[in-house]
Amino acid sequence: MVGHTTFDYSGESAIVTGSTKGIGHGIAKGLVDAGANVVVNSRTEGDVIEVAEELNERSTGEVIGVTADMTNLAEIEALIETAIDAFGEIDLLVNNAAVWPHEESLVKASIEDWNFAMDVNVRAQYYASKLVAAHMIEHGIEGSIVNHTSQTGDRRTGRRGLYGITKTAINGFTWRMAHEIAEHGIRMNAISTDVTETYQLHYEAEMIAEDDPDRTPEDVLREWGEARPLGRVGQPEDLANAVLYLASDAASYVVGTILRVSGGGNLE
Ligand SMILES: NC(=O)c1ccc[n+]([C@@H]2O[C@H](COP(=O)([O-])OP(=O)(O)OC[C@H]3O[C@@H](n4cnc5c(N)ncnc54)[C@H](OP(=O)(O)O)[C@@H]3O)[C@@H](O)[C@H]2O)c1
Repeated sequence: MVGHTTFDYSGESAIVTGSTKGIGHGIAKGLVDAGANVVVNSRTEGDVIEVAEELNERSTGEVIGVTADMTNLAEIEALIETAIDAFGEIDLLVNNAAVWPHEESLVKASIEDWNFAMDVNVRAQYYASKLVAAHMIEHGIEGSIVNHTSQTGDRRTGRRGLYGITKTAINGFTWRMAHEIAEHGIRMNAISTDVTETYQLHYEAEMIAEDDPDRTPEDVLREWGEARPLGRVGQPEDLANAVLYLASDAASYVVGTILRVSGGGNLE
């Protein structure tokens, strides 16, 4: 590697939605290790308590856990209010929580499938951003908001149609809201990846291997890695580093960008 960075987020306060597992957990850990105060969140209270305790032990700041379902507008409001009460202000919102609906066909999917995917993956990102941006504008905070999209959202065909539509929507949301709030010094950007190693990805690999007796889930994961120009699947730390960069002063002139973190998988 050429050049080496360390980030200092001491005194800054962040909310990371969907941060008990996977990439969100990696992002929360990256922020904690950089000294930030962090709110950990998911729908599952036991996980929230456990992860908040785990991260607090390694933190020089403060970590709190807030159980909130991002499909529920009142719970999103409570999440943000609790963060402001605990830390005084919010400097960074990472809109990470998402679901991967398993429908095989847009024709056969139900309106309930559509609403669920849209509520978690799009409406929640919009509503949390709207509330946090209003808080930042009111208090003159030149903060940052990072959305989580996916390379599925760049594509026009392929599996996971509903998921892809939600992520294409996040691309558009990022451009438009970034443009609106930049005049207040608030920078909105997005991170995007294609295959990053999380329990969801292991589950996907297991499903594929179930239909193919010649391959194990490990084979599937290895093949996915080999298909990336850099020869490996992503790790949560890769996305955490992208968030640390985008929210930092190193990216002070970066607005409305979708940073693709996929070992070159985005070029396929
Ligand atoms: N992994 C990949 O290869 C990949 C590729 C492209 C994009 N992404 C994007 O990366 C982000 C994280 O994905 P991931 O793979 O790390 O997912 P993950 O491992 O499934 O973790 C998702 C997290 O979100 C929480 N969550 C789910 N629904 C929620 C809700 N309604 N309210 C609050 N929290 C909720 C989950 O906890 P509970 O279920 O306990 O609530 C969990 O903590 C997503 O935006 C995803 O679209 C991932």
